[in-house]
Amino acid sequence: MAGDLLSAVTCVQQHAVSPHEDFYCTYSATQVDAIVDSLNHRAEFPYELTYLGDGSEMWRAGEVPSNPELAPMLSDFDTILTCHAEQLLALAPSSSPVRIVDLGPGTTRPVRGLIRHLLDRSRLTGYRAIDISAEILELASENLRVDFPAHAERFELCRGDFTGPDLARVLTAERTPGHDGADPVRFVVLAGGTLYNFAEPTQVLRHVCHVMSDHDVLLLTLRIDTGVDRPPFMDQVSVGG
Ligand SMILES: C[S@@+](CC[C@H](N)C(=O)[O-])C[C@H]1O[C@@H](n2cnc3c(N)ncnc32)[C@H](O)[C@@H]1O
Repeated sequence: MAGDLLSAVTCVQQHAVSPHEDFYCTYSATQVDAIVDSLNHRAEFPYELTYLGDGSEMWRAGEVPSNPELAPMLSDFDTILTCHAEQLLALAPSSSPVRIVDLGPGTTRPVRGLIRHLLDRSRLTGYRAIDISAEILELASENLRVDFPAHAERFELCRGDFTGPDLARVLTAERTPGHDGADPVRFVVLAGGTLYNFAEPTQVLRHVCHVMSDHDVLLLTLRIDTGVDRPPFMDQVSVGG
């Protein structure tokens, strides 16, 4: 038995591979170290780094349905956060404006209906997103500009890594009061299964919760929300504080 195992192990061949030169333009030195570390320890490319460079193309392509019959399914108004926007808003005191902080916004699709809901009720005081991918931020920015052309000044998109100190930078920025002086309530969004991009999701969630204040509300969704494969019970859930 031990001999079989030994011969299986000795059959493993190692090949040295060198990345294409684009690789070094796409990833910072720190990210290259993280990639090497992950390959060494888990034999995996870190999933959260697949959104940079060409990796963003799949998300851009997903925005343009090649089959127009699929268009209604991709409507902004069918995401779980949109469907429950009224219930989410009920978590904020009635006079409080709401600020959204979106961690890893992707296309922004999960939150655009919620943004619309808050704008229609004059409750949105600002939207800030942090993403590790410059290309994804560009896509997010285009989508917000198209859907909310009159509100560009409310949107702030930052490049950074929310699993590290950048999160505090994004979350501790000034808390400007709303029009009537009430403190804004902050909805911190971690949507679309982003948490499962990480090898240590619990650690990332702890970090996010540690940096959030007691008054913030975390909106966490654990799957990419296409609106088509949502279990029926999700349409009836109530939102708890
Ligand atoms: C699974 S996608 C979800 C996108 C969007 N929230 C949705 O639900 O459609 C993950 C997003 O998080 C971003 N991301 C992944 N790791 C990140 C990190 N450490 N810091 C900032 N953004 C990150 C990716 O670039 C991507 O936009």
